[in-house]
Amino acid sequence: MYNCAIILAAGEGKRMKSSTPKVLHKVCGKEMVNVVIDVIKNAGIKDINVVVGRGADKVKEATEVNGVFYALQDKQLGTGHAVMCAREFLTGKQGTVAIFTGDAPLITKETIEKLTLFHREGMYKATLLTSIVDNPSGYGRVIRGNNEDVVKIVEHKDCTEQELKINEINSGMYCFDIEHLLKSLDRLDNNNAQGEYYLTDVIGILKSDGEKIGALPIPFEETMGVNSRAQLADAEKVMRKRINLKHMENGVTLIDPDNTYIDIDVEIGNDTIIYPGNVISGKTIIEEGCTIYPNSRIENSLIGKGVNIQNSVILQSKVGEGTSVGPFAYIRPESVIGKSARIGDFVEIKKSVIGDKTKVSHLTYIGDAEVGSGCNFGCGTVVVNYDGKKKHKTIIGDNAFIGCNVNLVAPVKINNDTYIAAGSTILEEVPEGALAIARAKQVNKEGWVEKKGLKK
Ligand code: UD1
Ligand code: CA
Repeated sequence: MYNCAIILAAGEGKRMKSSTPKVLHKVCGKEMVNVVIDVIKNAGIKDINVVVGRGADKVKEATEVNGVFYALQDKQLGTGHAVMCAREFLTGKQGTVAIFTGDAPLITKETIEKLTLFHREGMYKATLLTSIVDNPSGYGRVIRGNNEDVVKIVEHKDCTEQELKINEINSGMYCFDIEHLLKSLDRLDNNNAQGEYYLTDVIGILKSDGEKIGALPIPFEETMGVNSRAQLADAEKVMRKRINLKHMENGVTLIDPDNTYIDIDVEIGNDTIIYPGNVISGKTIIEEGCTIYPNSRIENSLIGKGVNIQNSVILQSKVGEGTSVGPFAYIRPESVIGKSARIGDFVEIKKSVIGDKTKVSHLTYIGDAEVGSGCNFGCGTVVVNYDGKKKHKTIIGDNAFIGCNVNLVAPVKINNDTYIAAGSTILEEVPEGALAIARAKQVNKEGWVEKKGLKK
């Protein structure tokens, strides 16, 4: 049977106190609305309409990659009004529409599948996901009749004393028969505490028409909504736990999962060991058998097999198999480090290629350079890539041995199998097989200290 989805994402999110629309706040590195879109798609629903309003352009821009449709809600007159704004999306369609909110990112694919099946098999005109909670404050309450049937939903602000005690809450996630939903939307009013058109009132309307309403209770862990920064942190915690559990099930060792921060889309190979304090974000892929010692940040990078990383920052870069990085290395965007290489302590690499087995062990800056394989950089090498106006390239062949405290002033080329004497400032091309020395010759002034009367 036909199934589409609407995601409500037009609200302002006042309680977030943010200039960013609420649904664009991130949980484990991904905007909440994109988390919801992804999970709906994974559950097999491809035809998705996002209702945008507050910060519509920003929300559209952030969700564009997901190939969804949009409806605009100019004024935020309530969740029912938001669905009315998507009327065009529903018109002419027959079957089920699932409705979710862009601020409840913890719903799972399995639950969505269960919801749609339950809705279909029960032949309900509306089915809602609910949760039984200790503290229902702020949520709409599910009112059940004598025979346990759902009668209506009452918003927290509209509840009587008695209704406030009900601890079954509305998750804000539903399935509706499209035709019945459209007809009921026309009958909504805003005679309530908030002066809004509530989507939740559709349930009461359908019930009073004698239609069958289904309700599926699920754990609060999946229904939790995010209305404040504190709830955002709660949601992040639940999501983090799920992500980390998934990696452990895949054969990754997390020394302390409570203190390991891995974004939703990160992939990690088995037998990789991750120590606490690591932040692994974006679309990072870490292959198998790596060891990530504490306190690194790795973003949108590809880390090859058996790499060791300690206390380092790696951004938008690739690190080849068997290489070690850190402690305290900084690999900046668009760098490619080869296999079995070494990027040691206090080394910064910027937009550079470093060949296989090349060692850059300590206190070195390499920027805008192409470095071959088997090179060795002495301590304190600086690639001087910037002349105050422009950045220039440095090219270094294979097996170059760069002595300590060398400046390589770009643009410059160092050919294969060369040696550069320590303390040199290199401005000219060094031919293959040569030793380059570019420093003042040493002068010893015998007896100088005594002559000056400085001897102690
Ligand atoms: C809503 C439900 C409540 C439920 C709770 C679950 C209603 C009336 N209430 O309350 O029963 O327990 O979710 O989290 O539906 N939105 C729009 N346009 C609007 C208003 C809201 O698009 O005019 C969007 C928001 O961006 C948000 C979602 O709808 O993503 C829910 O809105 P919110 O104001 O957070 O509703 P709650 O008060 O949480
Ligand atoms: Ca909410």
